[in-house]
Amino acid sequence: MSRKVSALDPGKVDVHARNVSFDWRNTPLHWMALDPVASHLISALTLLLPEGERMFCAAFTEALPLIADEKLREDVLGFIGQESMHARTHDKAIEEFLEGNGIDVRPFVAHAEYIFRTILGPRTELGPVAQRQYLLERLAVISGLEHMFAFLGDWIINADLERFGADPAMLDLYRWHGAEEVEHRNVAHDVAEYFDMSYTRRNLAMVIAVFSLLLFLIRGAKFLTHEDPALDKPGYPRMLWRIVGSMRRGALPSFSMIGRSLAHCLKPGYSPEVVGNTAQALAYLATSPAARAAAS
Ligand SMILES: [Fe+2]
Ligand SMILES: [Fe+2]
Repeated sequence: MSRKVSALDPGKVDVHARNVSFDWRNTPLHWMALDPVASHLISALTLLLPEGERMFCAAFTEALPLIADEKLREDVLGFIGQESMHARTHDKAIEEFLEGNGIDVRPFVAHAEYIFRTILGPRTELGPVAQRQYLLERLAVISGLEHMFAFLGDWIINADLERFGADPAMLDLYRWHGAEEVEHRNVAHDVAEYFDMSYTRRNLAMVIAVFSLLLFLIRGAKFLTHEDPALDKPGYPRMLWRIVGSMRRGALPSFSMIGRSLAHCLKPGYSPEVVGNTAQALAYLATSPAARAAAS
């Protein structure tokens, strides 16, 4: 979402991982009690994120020796710290919340593993020139997805999901994660700029990555709906219709919001700085129950 940066916004900040502590053992499968479809679509993110974020960390670790700029190196290390904490935390959510509610996640997690380990994982068989090009492709994908994660992070910090009966512990997971996505939204873009990535390479990768993400989430929502004994088993048309209904109610960001955000990102001279608000993200992180529980 495009927004003018507030006068109170501190701008770029030092990025570091925060310790968090969650307990989802009593969180129901319909964690938004009044919108099971939106619950499942957002939960599909939890199925995807651990593998995706581990791929982000692997690619950034590979890029680190090629970065001479000291500040950018610090940002990349902070980014890796945050993303690996996100991956570990969503792994715990899979175990406590999804498997704890009787969902066999393996068939769907296997798809995420295939995408991020086989298609986008390290390829040691390539020569040095091809290795570098392959690394740049992965950094372009990460830069595009990071735009979308900052957009989604900003959305979930501001969305009134309490009116759908959102479970506080699960909502805190997505808001903590979303706030850190807003906080570190410049890093992947700065890395892409550092490697002098072309407009075409970056944006083509972004469009493909974001459409793949949306398809994956719709597929994930359908998977969880079919695994859910309380719901019927819709095909894709009916599933999509229900998702659009959740978007209209405000339980999910709408396709038009996502499209506008993508279009904004495609503008030459785009900066992630205007996606979300750092001051608001930091204010949330200062009061996040999970961050406070870990600190106590
Ligand atoms: Fe993340
Ligand atoms: Fe991120």
